[in-house]
Amino acid sequence: MSSRYRVEYHLKSHRKDEFIEWIKGLLATPFVLHAVSPGEEEDDLTTTQRVKSKYADILKDIEQLIINKIEFDKHNVAMSGAYLNECSPDAKSRLNLLVPSIGTFFTELPLERAFLWEDSQRAISSRRMIAPSFNDIRHILNTAQILHFIKQNKLGPHKGGKPLKLVTFDGDVTLYEDGGSLNDTNPVIPHILQLLANDIKVGIVTAAGYDEAKSYESRLEGLMKQLHTSTILTVEQKSNLTVMGGECNYLFRYSDDIKDDSDGRAYGLEYFHRETWALDEIKNWTKQEMDALLDFAEVTLHSLKKRLNLPEEVPIIRKKRAVGIIPGLKFDPVLQKKIALKLSREQLEEIVLTLQNSIAESPTSRNIQFSCFDGGSDVWCDIGDKNLGIRCLQHFYDPEVPIQPFETLHIGDQFAPMGSANDFKARLAGCTLWIASPDETVNILKRLLE
Ligand code: IMP
Ligand code: MG
Repeated sequence: MSSRYRVEYHLKSHRKDEFIEWIKGLLATPFVLHAVSPGEEEDDLTTTQRVKSKYADILKDIEQLIINKIEFDKHNVAMSGAYLNECSPDAKSRLNLLVPSIGTFFTELPLERAFLWEDSQRAISSRRMIAPSFNDIRHILNTAQILHFIKQNKLGPHKGGKPLKLVTFDGDVTLYEDGGSLNDTNPVIPHILQLLANDIKVGIVTAAGYDEAKSYESRLEGLMKQLHTSTILTVEQKSNLTVMGGECNYLFRYSDDIKDDSDGRAYGLEYFHRETWALDEIKNWTKQEMDALLDFAEVTLHSLKKRLNLPEEVPIIRKKRAVGIIPGLKFDPVLQKKIALKLSREQLEEIVLTLQNSIAESPTSRNIQFSCFDGGSDVWCDIGDKNLGIRCLQHFYDPEVPIQPFETLHIGDQFAPMGSANDFKARLAGCTLWIASPDETVNILKRLLE
């Protein structure tokens, strides 16, 4: 890689979603050509209508390309020999040729209808100066996924519908603010309870990695309390709430009947030993291999700390299945107290990309999956990823007939591609919604449960 290319690649590609950028480019053309301020001969409404129909046509076409890709992928899986031969031009759908990094679509997406709904909310086609943006398209894709599941639910399994069976949530920024917790008044809780009341399984799949229940119980305290006091949910429905911590490392399930609780509380999270739920690919990782990868990550973080001249007080934290660098506290001699340090955006991104690349190139990652990500104020390297975490849950809930990706929905905030976001890998295990704040999560659940 030439250094110029390297710089461009590193500065941009890890942040951009190629599919969304591509759609943005397609919608920019009608914006430039047709969203022109009206002259004498045309009123504003006619312009809006014309642009709206151009945008809708494009989204309808993309909807068809997705249907075509799903058919194509099905056919390729059936003839997996040809599929594996990447050299064959036949092995790629048209959408794959247009957007090389495109992933798998587990369901069709009614993009035209989704656009019309978002347009009614965001007035996209009434704008004359601002073209359809990344966020507009992110919302359209989310709405299309929601509309898909509403339709499947209405159809029901008897009429060929494939209703939603499992919803997984990321923690920070998705359920609560970064570093926050789910307190009693959090508006997301009634929606989580309603999912459970509808017999939909709920998993909280978070990077936050603790090997004991207490830390999760205190961060999810409001949810724990409301599950306990709920008179609507059955015991079985309550036990459909799980927490998968450290991406795919620690599994807990809610129970109203916890024994030996030191603070006298009889409800909370029950720990499950990994032997009882982990997929073979996780079980195959030896302790030595995991430790070697984390040792390497830790050394890399120390050398980055030195290279970037970070304050001595910035701690590097080593856990059983993770290593991270967090901002820490520094004593301020003027204020005579400790103040919070902050890592800058540039420092975080330099750390996460270097860490990701160094580990990927190191022999320590030969047999092991790992996730490096920038959590907004810290950087972590975890053993495993959310793809594995969600797949373990799909099997845990039903070992005989595991929940399928087209019956699974993961809601998260970290979907930027390339080693800087940890919800990205969830796309391999199910459908996804990309939200930007806990408020958006609440809003989306309201619509999903309508
Ligand atoms: P998530 O958004 O729920 O996936 O949680 C990500 C955040 O959890 C990170 O930004 C960290 O601040 C925090 N965290 C706490 N422990 C860990 C760990 O062991 N690995 C990764 N992140 C952790
Ligand atoms: Mg998050």
